[in-house]
Amino acid sequence: MSTAKSQKEKKVTTHVLQEMKSRGEKISMLTAYDFSMARIVDAAGIDVILVGDSASNVMAGHETTLPITLDQMIYHASSVVRAVSRCLVVVDLPFGTYQGNSKEALTSAIRIMKESGGHAVKMEGGEEIIESVERILSAGIPVMGHLGLTPQSIYKFGTYVVRAKEDAEAKKLMEDALALEEAGCFAIVLEKIPFRLAKMVAEKVNIPVIGIGAGNGVDGQVLVIHDMLGINNEFSPRFLRRYNDLYSGIKDSVERYITDVKSTDFPNEKEQY
Ligand code: KIV
Repeated sequence: MSTAKSQKEKKVTTHVLQEMKSRGEKISMLTAYDFSMARIVDAAGIDVILVGDSASNVMAGHETTLPITLDQMIYHASSVVRAVSRCLVVVDLPFGTYQGNSKEALTSAIRIMKESGGHAVKMEGGEEIIESVERILSAGIPVMGHLGLTPQSIYKFGTYVVRAKEDAEAKKLMEDALALEEAGCFAIVLEKIPFRLAKMVAEKVNIPVIGIGAGNGVDGQVLVIHDMLGINNEFSPRFLRRYNDLYSGIKDSVERYITDVKSTDFPNEKEQY
């Protein structure tokens, strides 16, 4: 077996991600929420699939990530876990399942691990959730942090603009990143912050830092798959690179199918029994 092939088939663990940071190899991460998409993403060789609470937006059509429930996240995550053979599967703890107290946070994280088979959880916030992070970690559950634009706090921020442009917020973000590392998080997502700050965080902490709208000075990148595939064509932030235009591709295919059905072109003799 070639080295490239064996590398491709080696299971990704939190330790593998740490090794990747150490040798300067960038980490690729994408969201997925269902079996069929996760199967393709894993086969392509992605390092990490995030079962993000962005499912609330792109799968369920909600305006924010707040409405999605723990049961719904478990449903999405278990579908993804059944599909993958190589990548690490990280599952978002949804809004309202960990902010109350650390015992509730642990109960939620245990449900995710037990009922979905996911490999780790992700939580939004810094110092204010450290007790919950520590309690979950003490149960042997790996935790990924998430700082910067944290969509579960959108009603506090009031807008989706770039975070931590001012010194005070940048300082707090750096302190939060250090606190998450100290607590034992295996990685941190930084969302929509200035690239210089993101680079400084990635240089300061020893754990992998994965960015979304945080520039190229970090250890890896994550995007929402519906955005990068152009399935969702209404969301065009500066940080997004579209690798396809599946909105048009799917719409065109459906239109051709409708035409074929209406004209009785489909099915033809070879397509029937
Ligand atoms: O839910 C999600 O998709 C996320 C990413 C944007 C990092 O948290």
